[in-house]
Formats: sequence, structure tokens, C-alpha cells
Amino acid sequence: MTIELGVLTAHVPRICDKDKVPDFQKEMVESMNQVAQTISNLKPDVIVLVSTHWTGTFHHFVDATPLHKGILTAVECPELISDVHYFYPGDHQLGSQLAEAGKELGIPVVAINDPTYIWDYGTLVPLRYLVPNEDIPVVELSINWSASLDETYEWGKAIGRVMRNSEKRCVFVSSGALAHNLVRGPEKMPTLSERALENQFIEYMVKGEAISAREMLPQFARAAGVESGGRHLAMLLGVLEPGFRGQFLGYGPSSGSGNAIMTFSLNQAAEKVS
Ligand SMILES: [Fe+2]
Repeated sequence: MTIELGVLTAHVPRICDKDKVPDFQKEMVESMNQVAQTISNLKPDVIVLVSTHWTGTFHHFVDATPLHKGILTAVECPELISDVHYFYPGDHQLGSQLAEAGKELGIPVVAINDPTYIWDYGTLVPLRYLVPNEDIPVVELSINWSASLDETYEWGKAIGRVMRNSEKRCVFVSSGALAHNLVRGPEKMPTLSERALENQFIEYMVKGEAISAREMLPQFARAAGVESGGRHLAMLLGVLEPGFRGQFLGYGPSSGSGNAIMTFSLNQAAEKVS
């Protein structure tokens, strides 16, 4: 039916427990709560979320499991994320459609249907804010280290087409940081140069200047060490490809990374395309 909303979100580990969020990350969390309210008002049928922490080596993965149930202790930071229980519905039908659409284009996409698969924290942390009642079906997507930004963009376009032509009302979430040259010190901001690149990228995304955002992405990704090499942003741009406007809601640091919270509305005229 439509893509009701696009979202760029953070997933930094110190916000996993909403009662333990440090002051320097509170703006981020308040912005995510704002997005949660928007999603709650929209009442979408499904959330499709790409996480930079689900890293396929050769394939793009789609988690088409009908029910997502598990307990997460994060491999990278078990001292911050431990014994976190979750139980979200999935959407096997839409997940399978997404995978088929990728394969038809020759993109190596694999759908999994595996109740033993445990989500990464790049998926679970934002969902704890954006869908706190665990009441909206979720289809999780990986990034793929072997894929170029161009391939990931094309995969994003295919994802967008499936969502727009589905009978379901969809929200697409891209979970990942902007600058991501990590350093010790959770309160540390990206450098001034990295912030300048981030601000330019954010400005393009707010104005819906997709061609410029896409053009700067490869060099931005290299210079600022953008998380996942910028693949989650390439996918987001592919999904939003027919045209969009963005809204910047908030920002926060995490160990030298920069994390923006943004929403995107698609241009009405471009909602249904073949
Ligand atoms: Fe991350």
C-alpha cells in the first residue's frame, strides 16, 4: 500500500535500558520516543528494519521468521546488554516477498525462517523504543560486507518497491550511526571534520536532495568511517528513492560515533510505482 514513514535511528548500547541512559544520550532517546509516538499514531502493519550489526559476509539476509523470540546478551558489550528478553511478531509473507524481489534482480538475498536466530542489539535496542509494546510485526534485514554501496542501493530500491506494492502499510527503519571512528570514552563526539560531513549529509536528507546525498556517501563513508561503510544509508536512500523530505529530530554521541534520529516522508506522487 504505502511506505508510511522512513526512520534513521540510533542503537547505542548505553540506551538499551531506558532507566540507565546517560545525560549525553538523553536527546537521542527523547527523539526516539517522538518517533515511537509517530509510529503509534500511524498504526503500520509491519516494520522493516536494517541493522548494521547483522553483518552477512556474502549474502543479504532477510529474517522472515514468523515470531521473533529470544534473550539477547550482546557479544560486543555483555556488560551493557545482558539477558534482554524480546517477543515480537514477524511477517513471513512480506519477508519472503522481499527476498524473492532481490533474487529476481540477481542480488544474493537469503530468507531465513529460524526460531533459534537471536537478534543483534542494532535491531533490538531501537525497537525497545520505537515499538515498546512489541505489537507490530518486524522483518529484519542484514547488511552485506561483500556488497558495494551501489548494490545495496539497488537492493534498497527493490525493498521499497515491494513495500509500496504490498497491501500493507509499512515503516522502514535504518538502524546505524553516521560517523563511526570509535574511541574510548562513551561521551566523545565525532571530530569537527566528521561533524561537518555529517551536517552536510543531514542537510541533504532533510531537503530530500537524494542525488547529492548519494553522491557524497562514498567519500563521507570513508572519511568519517560511517558505520557499515554507509550501507544502511545506501539502503535507506534506495527505499526512499522516488522522492522524500526529511526531519531532523535529535543527535547524540557514543564513543566518537555520531547518531542522528531522523524521519522521512515519501512524496505523495511517488507512493505507488511499478
Ligand atoms: Fe552500532
